[in-house]
Amino acid sequence: MRLVVTGGAGFIGANFVHTVIREHPDAHVTVLDSMTYAANRASLDGLPADRVDLVEADCANPESTGRLVGELTGPRDAVVHFAAESHNDNSLATPWPFVHSNIIGTYAVLEACRRHDVRLHHVSTDEVYGDLQLDDPAKFTPATAYNPSSPYSATKAGADMLVRAWVRSFGVRATLSNCSNNYGPRQHVEKFIPRQITTILTGGRPRLYGSGANVRDWIHVDDHNAAVLAILDRGEPGRTYLIGADGERSNLDVMQLLCELMDHDGFDHVTDRPGHDLRYAIDATATRDELGWRPQHTDLREGLRQTIDWYRENRAWWEPVKERVEAQYARTERVL
Ligand code: NAD
Ligand code: TYD
Repeated sequence: MRLVVTGGAGFIGANFVHTVIREHPDAHVTVLDSMTYAANRASLDGLPADRVDLVEADCANPESTGRLVGELTGPRDAVVHFAAESHNDNSLATPWPFVHSNIIGTYAVLEACRRHDVRLHHVSTDEVYGDLQLDDPAKFTPATAYNPSSPYSATKAGADMLVRAWVRSFGVRATLSNCSNNYGPRQHVEKFIPRQITTILTGGRPRLYGSGANVRDWIHVDDHNAAVLAILDRGEPGRTYLIGADGERSNLDVMQLLCELMDHDGFDHVTDRPGHDLRYAIDATATRDELGWRPQHTDLREGLRQTIDWYRENRAWWEPVKERVEAQYARTERVL
């Protein structure tokens, strides 16, 4: 099995490559990554050089993407498309890279898969559905209408629509998945959970947007990737699969849990994100029933404990970028 993994030097993609190499002794992976600020070469440390290649290129470049996809000729070969600009806060400050990577990048990946008739799995987010009220009994399902709020979620929604159109119009053999918020090792320190952990480890005060009432539906990155592998193995081309682990928690709850686990006192409430989505929640029943996939890391406290340990033990992975990320936040963030 040969896979081209776009965005494989980022958080979820790199964890995916580690899982594939561990669980599939016959697999070879080519990581296609433009090595933006969100990528980290060290995330691919420890992988066997004869089974993993890193090609530094923009997936929106039709020549390099077409060449790599054209090398996939086996019946189990596929492209797994993780590459994207992924951070909402950045999309509010500078939307263009999101249009480029998420929309043009997905277009180029689709055209390469169409030309070479290669199977594609497109990785997307539950944020395409917009947000829910706190007391809404409904959760997102594959039938929920798209209603994105930010440039990030709008460009992911646009990418999903391109994939659906390429399936219907050109018969591209693509599956899609929309997953909830991931946490785990190798996540960039700009994101909520690693930001708070690394702030505490560097002696600072953690930062909660607004009151912290916003709810996210947390899933461990390894559970997300196990679902992606199940879709690659047993998913039906043309279908959308929702991935979530019934992990709804308010940001305030997660913040308090992190402080408790790290034996830390006190955090700041800071200016809220403009247009901040209130709540996300995934109904993954169809994915569970049809693919037999089950999340394994359902104890958030234990998952966070292990994640904290990873950041404690891997300071060299995140320390070089921590100061720059905090300086960037400091330009707009005010303590309430
Ligand atoms: P990330 O920002 O950590 O990594 C993205 C990777 O893509 C980086 O290595 C970056 O260099 C690369 N990249 C960006 N633009 C590129 C381009 N034009 N060409 C090639 N490579 C490019 O993101 P992540 O959190 O690992 O998310 C991966 C995917 O999963 C994204 O598509 C995201 O929308 C989706 N997703 C993320 C979450 C989450 O909670 N993080 C949840 C659901 C879905
Ligand atoms: P984030 O990790 O940026 O993911 P997303 O925007 O995709 O949900 O943020 C998760 C939640 O945490 C979101 O509601 C915003 C909030 N948040 C904070 O309260 N403080 C922070 O420092 C950050 C980065 C996010």
